[in-house]
Amino acid sequence: MQDSEVAYLSFDQGQARTLAAASQHLAELRGPQAAGVASKARQWAERLHSTLDASQKALVQRFADGQLSALMCSQMTCPGGDPLPKHLPDLASLARSKRCLYLASRNQLLLELVRYRAFAFDIDNQGQIVRLVGNFKGGGSVPRPGEDHSTQVELSSHAGLRLGPHTEAPYNCSIVASEGRSPAPSALILSARWNPANEPTRIIPLRGIIEQLGSLHALALTSASFAFTRSDCFVAGQGEADKATSMLQFDPNGGFSLRYNAYRFSLNDHASDAAARAFDAFQALVKDTQPMPFVLQPDTALLINNSRALHGRDILQDNRRLLVRLFGYSRFASPVVLNDDPLLVRG
Ligand SMILES: [Fe+2]
Repeated sequence: MQDSEVAYLSFDQGQARTLAAASQHLAELRGPQAAGVASKARQWAERLHSTLDASQKALVQRFADGQLSALMCSQMTCPGGDPLPKHLPDLASLARSKRCLYLASRNQLLLELVRYRAFAFDIDNQGQIVRLVGNFKGGGSVPRPGEDHSTQVELSSHAGLRLGPHTEAPYNCSIVASEGRSPAPSALILSARWNPANEPTRIIPLRGIIEQLGSLHALALTSASFAFTRSDCFVAGQGEADKATSMLQFDPNGGFSLRYNAYRFSLNDHASDAAARAFDAFQALVKDTQPMPFVLQPDTALLINNSRALHGRDILQDNRRLLVRLFGYSRFASPVVLNDDPLLVRG
């Protein structure tokens, strides 16, 4: 079951060269946040797509159609060396660095290859498309230089804490904007600049879990019986918690769409006993499922369908681990667009 939910797309040498030249070109144009780069990324993706063989094209199509939980892209190259630093550099200088722009550009191109558009939420990550995932705020298994243990560390991808299984916020809706708020990302893509301890990103495909739950429990998860707390990475005063949301809905592209976060979701006060039992059963199944580990490095990138799979990670071991993340919307998603290019949507 799980095997058919994830697939591996490896590129041949010629394709890897095209991808590297394209990523370099997009990075020189200043990457995903610069106006005009999305259409260039689309052109490069079309060019790369024309070089794929039939089985590669089939994998790309399955992800594009929402039929895969995750697609691991591998055998990509990075130009030049990128020595591991002694400590993780500060966020601002990383964000400006050529290597991060290169990896972010490649991620944008890979999103385009599966017909997704990279975007940012206005309320999240300072409205920026590229998110650098690393331990900038402490909470890892080894303290950062000068880390203060007395203050509470935020629970976000800018800290080193364990992140239990979740889909990406916001949690109000999945495909079509509702009440002026855009849906959750359809997908995210992660690559690694540094991952010296080979720390995995963990994926839990949800299809098997929903099938095991049974029809009545699944139906109960479609009721507005769930509450969630606000994400720590949201802009102050934005993305407030909601006390009545559903977790699961039917979606013609992929069969279903689910929203859940192991450390933010709970039952709301008005939930029925049936919804409570379904929530317990769902959480028990998630807990009992062995997540699939994916170790990211600069030559790989992982596309995750955010409606169909949970992702998470353990507490960080090596504080130099640095991932580059982008969100993408599928061609089926309809967000509230604030700016077309670069794509910015209301959260
Ligand atoms: Fe996440």
